[in-house]
Amino acid sequence: MRTIWWEQGQVKMIDQRKLPLEFEIASFDDYRRVAWAIKEMVIRGAPAIGAAGAYGMVLAAYQSQAETRAALIRDLEEAKVALDAARPTAVNLSWGTRRILDTAREVETEDLDLLREILLDEAEALAEEDIEINRRMGQNGLAVIPDNANVLHHCNTGSLATVEYGTALGVIRAAHEAGKNIHVWVDETRPRLQGARLTAWELMQEEIPMHLIADNAAGYLMWSGKVDVVLFGADRVAANGDVANKIGTYKLAVVARENGIPVYAVVPTSTIDLSLPSGEHIPIEERGWEEVAKFGGCQIAPDDVPVFNPAFDITPHKYLTGIITEEGIVYPPFDVNLRRVKERAEHRIAERRKERIRAREKKLKGR
Ligand code: MRU
Repeated sequence: MRTIWWEQGQVKMIDQRKLPLEFEIASFDDYRRVAWAIKEMVIRGAPAIGAAGAYGMVLAAYQSQAETRAALIRDLEEAKVALDAARPTAVNLSWGTRRILDTAREVETEDLDLLREILLDEAEALAEEDIEINRRMGQNGLAVIPDNANVLHHCNTGSLATVEYGTALGVIRAAHEAGKNIHVWVDETRPRLQGARLTAWELMQEEIPMHLIADNAAGYLMWSGKVDVVLFGADRVAANGDVANKIGTYKLAVVARENGIPVYAVVPTSTIDLSLPSGEHIPIEERGWEEVAKFGGCQIAPDDVPVFNPAFDITPHKYLTGIITEEGIVYPPFDVNLRRVKERAEHRIAERRKERIRAREKKLKGR
């Protein structure tokens, strides 16, 4: 199941606000509406919003009335600011928008129709890479999932959080496909209920054995020996391995450590931000009061109740057993080993980019 794609000049995405009760596809032809969709969580999950940012930039290029490459780049810079502001924690968003802007700066042509085509190619390449990376993470993660394991999972990290397949849920999917006979405890994940609404829906479609649990049940399950491994994704990983992920992740990791249960974050290398030395530098998004004071649209707290609603928390790296990436599993010392995998992945992306540039140059000459 693909979460986001380009079709006839529009960006299409599954409207995740409506799942699991309604399955609707939302269409966008204005990058400002894509920024709105990211903010309102029509699409959510770090890699998915990275792809949405990239496709949003392509829309901006098609919307632009610019007559020169320089003017088009100025319009793209403006669009990047608007898209990046939609959600601050997931670094994948600015990573996706930057890739399109960098491509526009690299390609030296005044043929703006061709330039727009090239930008679309780049966004499509980013989306295809995401799927391939998720599958690689799934295979890499198999090594840490024992047969018959009970896996505790937080938030939604599946096809819906990515372009397709998933990060932590990708490892779960791969373990199921490999016949490991696993069972998943699905944290409901208040306040937006991504676990109850989205992860449960995805796992049930795949017939992966699972139970939905209230967030508060996780500690009891770990204490009573019902959890073998804890898996989650991340929106940003700092250079020292501290991880920002959905609110509630920190609590899970601490209780897992107390009970001797291994904890893995599953992240593409695009989620690693080496520019930030540690978790306290990661911006944490705060969202609206309604998410906490209402449940399924129904108010559950007094009128005008003061609410504090941080959407993410930081799990210090000391609570992580390892970080599963497309380049392999990273173990401590995270500061040294994360840098190594990030550089390896960037090298690979740069090589592929060179190939694409060569193909574009051929296209240019052919015009
Ligand atoms: O607020 P959301 O639903 O966008 O948060 C998503 C998560 O916290 C995921 O765990 C994270 O993006 C990694 S999943 C691929």
